[in-house]
Amino acid sequence: MPTTDELRNSGTLKIEWVKGHMPVLGELARRLRQTKPFAKMKVAICLHLEAKTAYMAQVIKDGGAEVAICGSNPLSTQNDVALALAESGVTVNAKYDASPEEYRMYLAHTLETEPNLIIDDGADLISLLHTEYADLLPGVRGGAEETTTGVLRFQAMEAAGALKIPILAVNDAHCKYLFDNRYGTGQSVFDGILRTTNLLIAGKKVVVVGYGWCGKGVAMRAQGLGAQVIICEINPIKALEAAMEGYQVMKMEEAAAEGDIFITVTGSTGVINVDTFKRLKNGAILANAGHFDVEIDVAGLKKIARTQRTVRKNIDEYNLNGKKIYLLAAGRLVNLAAADGHPAEIMDMAFALQVLALLHLRENNLPAKVLPLPLEIDKQVAELKLAVMGIEIDRLDEEQKKYLASWQRV
Ligand code: ADE
Repeated sequence: MPTTDELRNSGTLKIEWVKGHMPVLGELARRLRQTKPFAKMKVAICLHLEAKTAYMAQVIKDGGAEVAICGSNPLSTQNDVALALAESGVTVNAKYDASPEEYRMYLAHTLETEPNLIIDDGADLISLLHTEYADLLPGVRGGAEETTTGVLRFQAMEAAGALKIPILAVNDAHCKYLFDNRYGTGQSVFDGILRTTNLLIAGKKVVVVGYGWCGKGVAMRAQGLGAQVIICEINPIKALEAAMEGYQVMKMEEAAAEGDIFITVTGSTGVINVDTFKRLKNGAILANAGHFDVEIDVAGLKKIARTQRTVRKNIDEYNLNGKKIYLLAAGRLVNLAAADGHPAEIMDMAFALQVLALLHLRENNLPAKVLPLPLEIDKQVAELKLAVMGIEIDRLDEEQKKYLASWQRV
């Protein structure tokens, strides 16, 4: 067991490391330290509490805010990072492997700080605000949502007439989904699987369930590692896209007996279920990369398994009458529960968008709807990222601008 000092030191070093690879956020931090736009404001954050998140929380604090944070998943909080962050003056309500009761209590404590602005990842914090802490709603200017699952939940709240604050759908910004969902998930999912299993991907059949932006990234990286990729998808357009990309597309019923490794990224529930378990090959590996642990029916797996044992950290073996099935990270998102989440350079963009989203909420009175992030913010982050990458791009000259704005060409 590490001492508290060792834990704090480890967390501090992790934050320092990512800081060196998040220059866009660094540039925003420099501006925020000078202008203190969040002075007298309280910001609540519900995110995967690892080093990149901690750095963003510190940036917001340096911008003048009082910041409170809780985890957005019981298995993604890193205790060393949480400790280091708490010592830097942020109120931290999180620990690794929190029970469902503790997880909820941490959300509640975070809301009890009476925030004016909220960053959420999966919508747990803001939905609790609307149910059990509705008296605090008048003090909240708005929220910003990090992930597809959360945006869908907020859209459902809006459709039901239940949404009472503006929500900026940060997930849907180009500088988020095109990079974080695709390259971030694509890489971090294999980071989690490879760290956990230490097995080869080349030559294996990898079944990617869901071909949204995350699924696209996962499929692309699986193929790059030498896997034969199979896609299961319910949307005909996306399924067609996968087929034309050269992947095999089939129903889960069929894929179940083919795959060596299954990765769920649908945002839906029970996509790998008891029927699937019965069809799987001996030795099949199951991993989830969707926000909630509902994509693989773990309860159903437990029910039909004769025995269960942990064979390596984050690998549970289920014995189904002699057939062995391996579940990674208990069906929680494998890239965060069994690794460190997306690479720093990717979260640099996602978290720059989050900080700019908070500024936009602070500066504008927005309606209680799910709203897109303004395109100018998206472009600002892309420009900053290009600049730190040392990439210059061409600009339209006046003649080109005039040409593109005209319609009478013949
Ligand atoms: N690190 C912090 N938040 C994350 C997220 N939503 N996805 C991946 N890595 C993260």
